[in-house]
Amino acid sequence: MKTDSSGTSAIPVITIDGPTASGKGTIAQRVADHLGWHALDSGALYRLTALAVQQAGGDGSDEQQAAEQARRLDARFGAGLIQLNGQDVTRLIRQEAIGSLASRVAAWPAVRAALLARQQDFRQAPGLVADGRDMGTVVFPDASLKIFLDADVLVRAERRHKQLRDKGISANLDDLLNDLRLRDARDRDRAHAPLVAAAGAVTIDSSRIGVDQVVDQVLDLWRSRGSAHGPA
Ligand code: DC
Repeated sequence: MKTDSSGTSAIPVITIDGPTASGKGTIAQRVADHLGWHALDSGALYRLTALAVQQAGGDGSDEQQAAEQARRLDARFGAGLIQLNGQDVTRLIRQEAIGSLASRVAAWPAVRAALLARQQDFRQAPGLVADGRDMGTVVFPDASLKIFLDADVLVRAERRHKQLRDKGISANLDDLLNDLRLRDARDRDRAHAPLVAAAGAVTIDSSRIGVDQVVDQVLDLWRSRGSAHGPA
């Protein structure tokens, strides 16, 4: 395994990239808990940037304004809570409207550049499980194990619908489906760091298998090949 002057590249990383509502956040957290590693929900940083843009009165159409918000982001993560400027925004950033705005601001290269080092700083011993769209391609290209987690768009819309209903939030399945299709297209077709399986990534389709099975598959892969590339 390569090392750099800071020694961080000796710290193993598992990346889990995939489309919206593929379950990658839950799976990344479960794998991290199992291994006793840190977890990075990179989508939360884009959602926080979107919220900061919205609170500043923007609509995401101004690249420099969005990048400025990304650079100045006063975000804290801990104990299951996410704060922006000292306010608990854990639930607020999960709103569909913020997810949509996040997908728009994430298309700006200056926003992505502003968040790059912040994401790489999460690489702390004993290891990191990072989920997002470009974890294996751009942010941690030297990751020991790269997963591309996919699922049928209708299955993802139904899961999202159930999650929202369970939280008492009403949502229309057709609207969710249309929104997921739009976000998929925007995340996959953008010019900078598009959603694509990294070279060497293992694709897991979670359409017909549950969270436990996906977590087991990732852990099996890590034990059988990932751990051969670095310390477990
Ligand atoms: O994973 P999520 O739904 O919380 O992400 C919200 C948006 O942020 C997503 O539509 C695209 C963007 N994003 C990104 O461009 N790159 C990442 N690594 C993570 C998220």
